Amino acid sequence: MVETLTGTNRSKGITYNELLDMDTHNVPTKLREDAPLEPGPTIVNPSIYYSRDFFDLEVERLWKRVWQLACHEDDIPNVGDTLVYDIASLSYIIVRTGKDEIKAFPNACLHRGRALATEDESGLHEFRCPFHGWAWKLDGTLKEVPCQWDFPSVSAKTHSLPSVQVGRWGGFVFINPDDKAGPLKEFLGDINRHFEPIPFERRYKSAHVAKKLRCNWKVAQEAFMEAYHVVATHPTLLPVMGDANSKYDVFGNMSRAISPNGLLSPHVNPELVADPVDGATAYTKIRHALSGNIYERLALGRVKVTTRNGTSGIFDEAAHHLEGELDHADIQLCNWVGGALAEGMENEPDTTTVGPVPDRRKAAADAQRALWRERLGAEVDQVSDAEFVDTIYYNVFPNISPWGCFNPIFYRFRPYGDNPEECIHETMLMLPVPKGEERPAPAKIHWLDFDDDYVEAPELGMLAKVFNQDVVNLPHVQKGMKSIKSKEIVFANYGETKIRHFHKILKEWLSR
Ligand code: FES
Ligand SMILES: [Fe+2]
Repeated sequence: MVETLTGTNRSKGITYNELLDMDTHNVPTKLREDAPLEPGPTIVNPSIYYSRDFFDLEVERLWKRVWQLACHEDDIPNVGDTLVYDIASLSYIIVRTGKDEIKAFPNACLHRGRALATEDESGLHEFRCPFHGWAWKLDGTLKEVPCQWDFPSVSAKTHSLPSVQVGRWGGFVFINPDDKAGPLKEFLGDINRHFEPIPFERRYKSAHVAKKLRCNWKVAQEAFMEAYHVVATHPTLLPVMGDANSKYDVFGNMSRAISPNGLLSPHVNPELVADPVDGATAYTKIRHALSGNIYERLALGRVKVTTRNGTSGIFDEAAHHLEGELDHADIQLCNWVGGALAEGMENEPDTTTVGPVPDRRKAAADAQRALWRERLGAEVDQVSDAEFVDTIYYNVFPNISPWGCFNPIFYRFRPYGDNPEECIHETMLMLPVPKGEERPAPAKIHWLDFDDDYVEAPELGMLAKVFNQDVVNLPHVQKGMKSIKSKEIVFANYGETKIRHFHKILKEWLSR
């Protein structure tokens, strides 16, 4: 591994501004904007990821008070369409009450508390509790109480459903259970400038995958907030990503990372990867960019690893040694090459290019520009190379991560029910609606259980393989952090800016 410490506060290797100087198009000023978080250290107690009390505190002081993403407007297209939004121990009903009107209510009958809705419905005319039959109109007004004579204190005035604040941004529906909370617009600040030139209003949800994970929701979210983990977790990305040259900024309740692509990671020794791998494929035969060892798929769960001097061994997808002289291998490369593959992945060619950085970035951008020109027309001709090539990923407090420009990824992380040690990782793919076409219907949630492999959602494409690498770590993080003797988790000053920013805001909310 090439040493990246330079005595400065940034990694060795090319800076992001230098990469922007190579751009063949005008670069928007927002990409050059430097808005770092004040230096740390930021240290948190690992118990915030598993303690029952901390989880309950989050329910009381965070989830009951903060603006949070409930669904997309397209999920409830017609009047009477409803969606159940669950967060931790809480549940809300989101309902379309008019062509352009959406309301939300706590999902609880005002008689004895039964959840009014347990699944999403379309075209409802009322909410009727299945227990004793109390009913409310869609706007929450109490409509009927069987044996009303027995409830002299109950009327539409006293027992209509209490509404929950609703806010909308970019086609998404947010709620805030706190009546006293300021408007969503104020909370999001000047977010819109970050999502030009394809604002979310112009996009639709083409895929929605929800995977249950055995870790706290913050453990999962934080695994997707930085590029610092790429060197160990995604060695497959090192030939194409300047991971340690990523740029991190904070803006109000939002943070941003930009990881440059189309260049070699500064961790990699260029000489080791200079020659192409004979017969390389994207998923079944690749080189480890740090060791130079070749990983080749023999079958599902069988990977042959060959070192540069010709020693070899066979391993399963979790890097357990099966046979051969070589007895150690990288778990993430074994996982990539020997793990489950979606249909068509087996023979996918390796398209990694080599050569000077400006050429690599230009070629990648040109290919993307041509692809998007077909769908969106000439407007994409003005877009910079950086916006096509680089990974620009935002986090909006507390739990969503919309990606920038043409990258369709949009994550949401939330607790899975009332368990501090389980969560849901959702990936929505927000694609631009093609020019002149009707808005397509949104994808329904494709649920993946705890032990399902991400490749069981082929709509994720290559992301499925990348996520499989990410989640290898998560249950072990959840377990290991309980044994940290010092009770301290420390975050990198710069490379973990977004996580530090998240904890700064979380602390403020929880101490209010
Ligand atoms: S609990 Fe809902 S009507 Fe009784
Ligand atoms: Fe990752």
